[in-house]
Amino acid sequence: MQTFTAVAELKKWVKEIKNSGQSIGLVPTMGFLHEGHLALVEKARKENDQVVMSIFVNPAQFGPNEDFDRYPRDLKRDQELARNAGTAAIFAPSVTEMYPHESTISISAGTQAEKLCGAKRPGHFDGVLKAVTKLFHLTEADRAYFGQKDAQQLAIIESWVRDFNFPLDIRRVETVRETDGLAKSSRNVYLSEAERKEAPFLNKALELGKQKALKGENPLPDMADFLKKNISGKIDYIELLDYPSLSADVKNEAILALAVQFEKARLIDNKIFTLK
Ligand code: PAJ
Repeated sequence: MQTFTAVAELKKWVKEIKNSGQSIGLVPTMGFLHEGHLALVEKARKENDQVVMSIFVNPAQFGPNEDFDRYPRDLKRDQELARNAGTAAIFAPSVTEMYPHESTISISAGTQAEKLCGAKRPGHFDGVLKAVTKLFHLTEADRAYFGQKDAQQLAIIESWVRDFNFPLDIRRVETVRETDGLAKSSRNVYLSEAERKEAPFLNKALELGKQKALKGENPLPDMADFLKKNISGKIDYIELLDYPSLSADVKNEAILALAVQFEKARLIDNKIFTLK
């Protein structure tokens, strides 16, 4: 496995792969890898000749009071995990390599970004699109892999690629969980011991809410009560929306999503299902 920090090195590798007629699957990450990330690699390996993973803690998607500086980083460990999972190349640029000059053009993620996490994190999804757009172009990927764990991100990227004819497919990968149901996340390391014991209640609340919603009942009040009884963290939001439009009018698929702020970790999770 190769690790590139320079755009020029990555582009040389991409050219060789493309010239030999092989396909490229891209797995964009911010590193500190866990089994969720590795599930993306596994799917990418099945569907492509070569897999490139990007590891870049993207300052453009962090707000001024968010955790950019303390976001967990461990490139050596990530390289080991990525190699064992069958990644052919890692692209791990510095911030100046990725953003060599101040751009005068910005991307607006639009109405889907006004809901859920976007409402609390202004500019976050604009910053995500800035990074992934560059990664799509630099890697010339045929397919790019994203987790349902970050369903709003996935929905926005799908719209962006569809509406502007990016020549790649966006592939969705189901959320990988701990045995107690907690969605795997690089930010789980911020949880205190007591919070870690409470954290599986997010998934339990979603399960409970999904059953209610399938019966045609409003799941939100019961979910809020259930969470307040079982966790010390503060509920940021619990919402039931149409997926992927994220509008209030649920037509086909629904997303039940929540965010909880613990002392040092903000956790998100969701379920996507068909309402009959
Ligand atoms: P990061 O949080 O590192 O996540 C990278 C990818 O892994 C995302 O597509 C995310 O949805 C997926 N992922 C995370 N936890 C998962 C889990 N438990 N199961 C399945 N997939 C999971 O998301 C980002 O980075 C960034 O916003 C990025 C897309 C790289 C742009 O900077």
